[in-house]
Amino acid sequence: MALSIGPADPARPDFVGEVTGIDLRREITAGEAAAIEDGMDRYAVLVFRGQPIDDAQQIAFTRHFGPLEMATGDIARADQRRLAMEVNDISNLERDGTVLARDDRRRLFALGNMLWHSDSSFKPTPAKYSLLSARVIPGSGGNTEFADMRAAWDALDAEMQAMVRDLVCEHTQIHSRGTLGFTEFTDEERARWAPVPQRLVRRHPRTGRLSLFLSAHAGGIRGWPRPEALMLLRDLTEHATQRRFVHAHVWRPHDLVMWDNRVTMHRARRAPPDQVRDLHRTTVADSAPTLEQAA
Ligand code: OGA
Ligand code: MN
Repeated sequence: MALSIGPADPARPDFVGEVTGIDLRREITAGEAAAIEDGMDRYAVLVFRGQPIDDAQQIAFTRHFGPLEMATGDIARADQRRLAMEVNDISNLERDGTVLARDDRRRLFALGNMLWHSDSSFKPTPAKYSLLSARVIPGSGGNTEFADMRAAWDALDAEMQAMVRDLVCEHTQIHSRGTLGFTEFTDEERARWAPVPQRLVRRHPRTGRLSLFLSAHAGGIRGWPRPEALMLLRDLTEHATQRRFVHAHVWRPHDLVMWDNRVTMHRARRAPPDQVRDLHRTTVADSAPTLEQAA
């Protein structure tokens, strides 16, 4: 069966596509990779159902879209890691497969995924694509929601667009976790996750479309008083995450969902804390820091 991509929701023809006619367990062709990249340009999020892949297959698929990013944003100690450095552990599991204790530091840190964000916006070069593979899904809850930041930009009035067009934000995981009251960072973690600058408005290198680049990690705007910066970022995030810009993905085991972090935000929704939720994420790094990319 040939590869085919169509809208996941016919009511929204340009946000979230569903891909059929491909088996991600085998090596894909250059033509298939190009068609998927074209699909990402159009839909920003692509859903692949029924893909029972392992980590090696997920990594091989991911490499078609650029350099792999390592899971250095993780708070787990090396001796606590369940997965290779090429894979982000998006689970609530200990190495032995038991569910993390309610007050475990790794679990509390991971609750930050429930804030609207763009992956690795706290790294000097942020993420291009993220690919999230569902291995075990809880009985209820735990959806992932996506917001279309191109549509959010288009819907701003001209005065607001002019005001934010050239702003530069400071992003750090210390800020996003701090908004949840998670402040117990070691000096080493604070140094590792020092703030990095990111443009607030970016241009997609292939489509030329502008989009808002927001994330829970954004904790300031260069040259602005901090409360005023946080208020504007809160206002913009509220605007950008109105239901008309949002799609909720309801997971089935073996789904793989791929999104473009340059033009979307996403967040996890609450799941029962005692049930296993195990997803594995691979990430493609962007080409350069956003300030070095064409505006
Ligand atoms: C991620 C993430 C959301 C979720 O994998 O980057 O934010 O629903 N996941 O687990
Ligand atoms: Mn994320």
